[in-house]
Amino acid sequence: MCGIAGMVASSNVAQKLYRSIAALEYRGYDSCGMAVQENGHIDVRKNVGTVEKVNQGERLTDMKGLAGIAHTRWATHGGVTRENAHPHMDSQGRVAVVHNGIISNYHQLRERFQNAGVVFLSETDSEVIAHLLGECLDKYEDDMETAFVSALRELEGNFSLAVISTKASGQIYCAKRESPLIIGLGDDANYIGSDFNAFIEFTRQAIIMDDGEFAVVTHQGYVVKELLSRNVVNKEVTEIEWDMEMSRRGGYPHYMLKEIYDQPATTLSTLSIPREKLAELARLIHESRQCFLGGVGTTYYIAAMGQYLFSQIAGCYLPAISTDEFPHLAQVGPEDALIAISQSGETYDTLTAVRFAKERGARTGAIVNVMGSSLVRTVDVPILQGSGPEICVISTKAAMSQATILLLTAVELGVMRGRFGEEEALGYRDEIGNLSDVLSEALNERAGFLHTAASRHQKMKNWLYLGRGIYYPAALENALKMKEVTYIHAEGMSAGFLKHGTISLIDENMYTIVLMPHPDEKELHALTRSSAEEVRARGGFVLGFRFEGDEDVEGLFSEEIVLPRVSPLLAPFLHLLAGQLLAYFLAVQLKRDVDRPRSLAKSVTVA
Ligand code: AGP
Repeated sequence: MCGIAGMVASSNVAQKLYRSIAALEYRGYDSCGMAVQENGHIDVRKNVGTVEKVNQGERLTDMKGLAGIAHTRWATHGGVTRENAHPHMDSQGRVAVVHNGIISNYHQLRERFQNAGVVFLSETDSEVIAHLLGECLDKYEDDMETAFVSALRELEGNFSLAVISTKASGQIYCAKRESPLIIGLGDDANYIGSDFNAFIEFTRQAIIMDDGEFAVVTHQGYVVKELLSRNVVNKEVTEIEWDMEMSRRGGYPHYMLKEIYDQPATTLSTLSIPREKLAELARLIHESRQCFLGGVGTTYYIAAMGQYLFSQIAGCYLPAISTDEFPHLAQVGPEDALIAISQSGETYDTLTAVRFAKERGARTGAIVNVMGSSLVRTVDVPILQGSGPEICVISTKAAMSQATILLLTAVELGVMRGRFGEEEALGYRDEIGNLSDVLSEALNERAGFLHTAASRHQKMKNWLYLGRGIYYPAALENALKMKEVTYIHAEGMSAGFLKHGTISLIDENMYTIVLMPHPDEKELHALTRSSAEEVRARGGFVLGFRFEGDEDVEGLFSEEIVLPRVSPLLAPFLHLLAGQLLAYFLAVQLKRDVDRPRSLAKSVTVA
């Protein structure tokens, strides 16, 4: 995914536009660029590197113009080169384009233009948009709106894009199909962005564009129209609830650490989601023949944790399917439902799974962090998790809240299914209400031990995370955290599975982390304990994550992290926290780019 920003004002836009793409850098960060338009000329400056680095070389903030667009890129088509960075221009320098998404018919278009003698400067799919616009400007005698609309009608695939043109002074043309785009309304300036962070520093009034719409934005106003009919669409103004303060790092060295430490507060806001909302989601499950849980990456592991929660608490099996595989696996029909989990609400795989389910008549729900995102607007029952902006590419606080929402919904479903009464539900809710305090306690008192463990074992190249029951998906999630931020090989596995093959890897080069269940979970505890013993018996190093008061495992591990005493219901949440901290501290020791690990993007909007 990439970040798009744009701005039209009555004074020079360069400084603010630069701040906009800097704020969007977490969406993609291999290269970036800006285009501004003044006196019938478009100035494009772009290069490889972070926004700050590109500014140092290209002096983006010195550019001059009243309308500008900007882009920060996460490469899909074509390598990380200056030529492939956006904006792209047509051969005559009349238009500059920034694009997010994939133009699926770009091969045909490119061939057509090349046959007509057009020289392409990049390997991207996006450059065809600029040439197509140039062709349409010729055809429609520089009528920008007609040229824009007819160019867009030729594009297949998905996009959000913004264009400035020498033929449309003081205007930005923008449009979207299956990729987010938002207009920000300011005083004497208007903005566009691929999400709120592009302009939240300047305004909190926004227009959320829908698929099949385009807009013309000037410094005094905007008009949104349907692409097919060109009829004007009246749009509602949305007040953005997040503010700049919530987006800032607040003194932490990295967003990842800030967001880990945000969790006591963000779980509190999750706990204040009205019960009626959760009951709506529970009803969706209750009324369906079969309800699937879907997510991908971290959100799939959270869905897999949900699978156990619904099973244990509500006595209901909800298969969790990774959304990238959903269309190839799920047998979904009109009586079924899918609940999708997504931080961004823009993940291609997850949106595709939801659309797949909808097309087959299934009902849909979602747990999602970003208001106004495509997922929120696609499903029947959206639950906004209220975790605030998550800037680090690695998901921590959003995942914690998603798991909490699944837990709370499982309680609602338990009541609905008559498994227990209101009184017992109240007991569950009281217990869950302690989560914020428990996370605070663990952060205040145990983070230091995880820091020490990270320093001690920073040379280890292979980590195996083991868990049983709900601790199994928690182990998978912890391993993913380790991989994505440290670049160290880590694998999560159900502890019972180990002896069926992987145990042959156990030697001094493989460290094992065992996620011990709560001591009251007697059977699970005994089984996990024996898995740890199997590893130790083969000379393997075992770092145990266990709970205070669990005397049964004293002396079992090579080393241990003791987590605060909690109720069994909250135990897996502390394991998630411990996994986040260990991965973070190790990444810092290894001098990794913590908030923007290589090759990753905050939300993956491509197949
Ligand atoms: C999280 O740490 C990962 N970077 C990634 O697995 C992420 O959870 C996944 O891409 C889903 O994103 P979403 O929550 O925005 O849908």
